[in-house]
Amino acid sequence: MLLPTETVYGLGADAANPAAVAAIFEAKGRPRFNPLIAHVHDAATAARIAAFDDRALALAAAFWPGPLTIVAPVRDAAAVCDLARAGLDTVAVRVPGHPLSRAVLAAFGGPVVAPSANRSGRPSPTTFEDAFAETGDKTAAALDGGPCQVGLESTVVAVLDGPVRLLRPGAVTRAQLEAVVGPLAEADDDAKRSPGRLALHYAPDAPVRIEAAAPRAGEAFLAFGSWPDGEAVFNLSPSGDLAEAAANLFAFLRAADRTKPAGIAVAPIPDQGLGEAINDRLRRAAGFVG
Ligand code: TXA
Ligand code: MG
Repeated sequence: MLLPTETVYGLGADAANPAAVAAIFEAKGRPRFNPLIAHVHDAATAARIAAFDDRALALAAAFWPGPLTIVAPVRDAAAVCDLARAGLDTVAVRVPGHPLSRAVLAAFGGPVVAPSANRSGRPSPTTFEDAFAETGDKTAAALDGGPCQVGLESTVVAVLDGPVRLLRPGAVTRAQLEAVVGPLAEADDDAKRSPGRLALHYAPDAPVRIEAAAPRAGEAFLAFGSWPDGEAVFNLSPSGDLAEAAANLFAFLRAADRTKPAGIAVAPIPDQGLGEAINDRLRRAAGFVG
């Protein structure tokens, strides 16, 4: 089922049902080694599926429902089947904030795995139309929740042995996490635990050029801050607001791509707060390892 969340649209299936989970991998063309996030209605359900220590419980209390995913040792391996976890002994869980996904999770009862609804390697869909265009033909049901408020995927942290590790920057910022659990460890040395972090990801068809002061001939331009309007200019946030830019990012990459430009140039985005997650996605769209 196409499922709206506050971050991006997901393609959801019963986490305990290997055939349903296999259909998700198939629909996305997703490599089987890349595990899925189990979405649940509340933190108590999450803590039955995953072994939460005090830090995980504190993060859940601070940020759920909301755009944070917690990776912890799996406790109930049947609730989120092996295929969904890519055979790992850890599981990623998240309590989403969007009322429609919350209603589905409450009615269903069990965990729902939902990767972003794009085909593998493409930008995550942040509107119903984009989600439907990506994988709508592969699913039996589709819920229209309008445009996603956050527009970037959830922050992913691993709460295992040692300090909490940031596996994927997202809407919950580094500073917000550190206020709850202290300094984070980097995940760079840890590709195995973050198997989805492939370099070329979130990529539109046109080549993406980041940190661009101005577009070159033939390029579409994703501006940030004051910039004159023009053909193939998409301003992520005229007022320079990072939350607005995050919400617009994937939809504007897609819109720019639809103009069939020679390339897509993107203005520099400050690396503070939400900017860390925006720049992470842009580096990947441009084909650099983040
Ligand atoms: O905002 C979101 O998180 C969206 C919405 C739909 O909830 N979902 C999403 O799912 O972005 P997906 O599958 O596109 O990204 C899940 C990320 C991948 O990078 C994957 O490798 C990582 O979470 N992940 C899942 N299980 C993991 C685990 N056990 N250990 C480490 N990373 C894991
Ligand atoms: Mg994804």
